[in-house]
Amino acid sequence: MIDIHSHILPGIDDGAATPAEAIQIAKAAVEEGITSIIATPHHQNGKYINSKQSILENVEELNVLLRNENIPLSILPGQETRIHGDLLNELETDVILPLNHTNYVFIELPSGHVPRYTEQLLFDIQLKGLTPIIVHPERNAEIIENPDLLYKLVSKGSLTQITSSSITGHFGKNIKKFTLQLIEAQLTHFLASDVHSLKNRPFRLADGYGVLNREFGSKAVYLFKENTELLVKDMAVYKMDPTRIKKKKFLGIF
Ligand SMILES: [Fe+2]
Repeated sequence: MIDIHSHILPGIDDGAATPAEAIQIAKAAVEEGITSIIATPHHQNGKYINSKQSILENVEELNVLLRNENIPLSILPGQETRIHGDLLNELETDVILPLNHTNYVFIELPSGHVPRYTEQLLFDIQLKGLTPIIVHPERNAEIIENPDLLYKLVSKGSLTQITSSSITGHFGKNIKKFTLQLIEAQLTHFLASDVHSLKNRPFRLADGYGVLNREFGSKAVYLFKENTELLVKDMAVYKMDPTRIKKKKFLGIF
């Protein structure tokens, strides 16, 4: 299993605080059945700046540490980039780090709203040959209020990633319900943990896939898992078709 969203790199954001904590998280990942995990520290979220070069160095350090501890987990480089006005410039100046050096980039919206320039910026990112992946849209207040905003962004080529703790109900009943609706509407493409700590924000990734299986069947699980494999290889992922809203199951759609 591959987890494409995590805050496992120690001491650089609100995820793991120390190398010892990162090791504990890595051990938990292995127990969960995860073999590779993309480290996606926050960047430009108003609190943390983590540019490409420093993330690459931190990833290398943690991989060495895990090898020394004989923990069979591979850390891949990535970044969770908050949408901001200087993003295109940061792409050009090599500050942004796409996921595992692919053409996929994580884009985080503010939790309360969708900035008016979002559609244009996501379009401009695509003009540069990159595919934006909007992280945890199910926790954005404006998207919950008006899902059509997300429909527009997805129908224009953006992908989205939902969080395992959302689908398991740990962010509340309403977010769980909305997450299931996003899957049903085929407005999402990846499931990931967004792990921050074992205490407050653990993986729950196996549980998340369990809920996906119960609600949508094994084919949905296969497609979501396959998409994480395709992503790290920089291959085209399965795109759901947002015009097929209200389909109950994935069966027969692809
Ligand atoms: Fe995150």
